[in-house]
Amino acid sequence: MSPETGTLYQHPDRNLGMELVRATEAAAIRAVPFIGRGDKNAADGAAVDAMRKFLGTVEFDGLVVIGEGEKDHAPMLYNGEHVGSGEGPACDIAVDPIDGTSLTAAGRQNALSMIAVADRGAMYDPSAVFYMEKIVTGFEGHGVVDLNRPIGENIRALAKAKNKDVSDMVVAVLDRPRHAQLINDIREAGAGTRLMLDGDVAGGINAAMHGTRIDMCVGTGGTPEGIITACALKALGGLIQGRLLPSDDDERQRAIDAGHDLDRVLHIDDLVTSDNTYFVATGVTDGQLVDGVRKHGPAIRTESIILRGRSGTVRRVVAEHLAEKWL
Ligand code: FBP
Repeated sequence: MSPETGTLYQHPDRNLGMELVRATEAAAIRAVPFIGRGDKNAADGAAVDAMRKFLGTVEFDGLVVIGEGEKDHAPMLYNGEHVGSGEGPACDIAVDPIDGTSLTAAGRQNALSMIAVADRGAMYDPSAVFYMEKIVTGFEGHGVVDLNRPIGENIRALAKAKNKDVSDMVVAVLDRPRHAQLINDIREAGAGTRLMLDGDVAGGINAAMHGTRIDMCVGTGGTPEGIITACALKALGGLIQGRLLPSDDDERQRAIDAGHDLDRVLHIDDLVTSDNTYFVATGVTDGQLVDGVRKHGPAIRTESIILRGRSGTVRRVVAEHLAEKWL
């Protein structure tokens, strides 16, 4: 019975975050042997297997809305698959066993294992278009920034709202050739950039979290990652705006046929219609958000973050797992 709704498991239970974190911890731990070994598929495969196994023990009926692809291409955690015990709250679930598979394979920082959950039917279906233009800020961005405006105007407006000098503003962007002009424009506006090799979910969360050095995260990244970021931002009161960006004419046509308005700016409540969200992430390698997996004598140390939309709570969970139990 949910104490908040008085109904029998109509919505994600408030302990769900603590259950889900076991799955991201397991995925992160199992990815460790593959850090810096140059094989991103092997790292991802190990994380997927571990996450799936632990999700099976969680009491909920999860429908994978954002998974590892279509059934035929991804035998595990595919879109449309049901995960969990099948009992308890009916939810949409987005899984990214490793956001930053290339980072993991290269032994670089900022790889995370992550899960987002919302009420069943609440997550936007990201299947039409792979990429999305995005802007993410903290709560100060509401009514202040607009994806349709030039980046320089958004930086100046957000700086004013945050009572900061433009020269103190820091904008995170994925380091991609497609962002060359954007990066130039940010610097010309007088702000600094933090170029990310991968992982724009962590970039977005860092932009929305209080007390970080990132003020804004912008640029084109995955649509699934945009929805996962929106689930996290529900707990932070942050802003995300996105617009689908088809890569070619085929994708454009498929999106139009599916009824998408490609000019429309999607806001947080379009990306996830419910406030009843969870975002859970465990560090694979060290990052700004959380530390990566570490060996401490006989123990394996993990650090995770749990964000609950309904209560607006950010929890950090440090766990020590006896290594011999993970052989
Ligand atoms: P994966 O590690 O899951 O492949 O994603 C990493 C990532 O950097 C995302 O965080 C981001 O949204 C997307 O890839 C950007 O795509 P691309 O690498 O094609 O620019």
